[in-house]
Amino acid sequence: MKRFAYTVLASITIFQWPIANALADEVSVKYPDGYRDWTHVKTMVIQEGHALYEPFGGIHHIYANTKALEGYRTGSFPDGAVITFDLLETFHSDHSITEGSRKVLGVMEKDQRRFKDTGGWGFEGFAAGDPAQRVVGENANAACFQCHTSQESHDYVFSKWRK
Ligand code: HEC
Repeated sequence: MKRFAYTVLASITIFQWPIANALADEVSVKYPDGYRDWTHVKTMVIQEGHALYEPFGGIHHIYANTKALEGYRTGSFPDGAVITFDLLETFHSDHSITEGSRKVLGVMEKDQRRFKDTGGWGFEGFAAGDPAQRVVGENANAACFQCHTSQESHDYVFSKWRK
């Protein structure tokens, strides 16, 4: 009987694992593999004294995949568009500012169906750029989306495309 119970338990665990994983995939933002090969949109340095210094102090580079580029050009981002906000530490020396280690990799992934509660965008942050260290999870609305709502007329995206 005990062995039967173990077998049942083991098979439930084995069969549920992929289902649980599929559900997690359904609502979570994918780590943006290869984003450093995407198109660079812009760079900004946020220094002490700036209102966003606390969460975003340092130098960040914004990258867009092909679908996101379409959105930058048209103002409306199609499903599959992904934008990354790659935030690194800064070092000041000899009148220059250089990059340090990665603080966080912010990601916005467009999918109208999966992320319908946050303007069709999924938001996630990966601490130190590590795919295993998600810092936003279910807090996307409060932690990210609320501030991005000010850009509703540009599909919730702050940055603009420049030539
Ligand atoms: C207090 C306001 C605020 C909050 C909160 C915020 N952002 Fe942003 N975000 C900005 C601003 C401003 C920019 C534009 C920066 C620039 O122009 O270089 C931006 C840009 C971005 C971009 C590049 C696309 C764009 O909109 O320009 C991504 C990706 C991004 N943020 C992800 C996130 C994630 C993930 C979170 C939550 C962890 C978050 N943001 C929280 C203000 C915010």
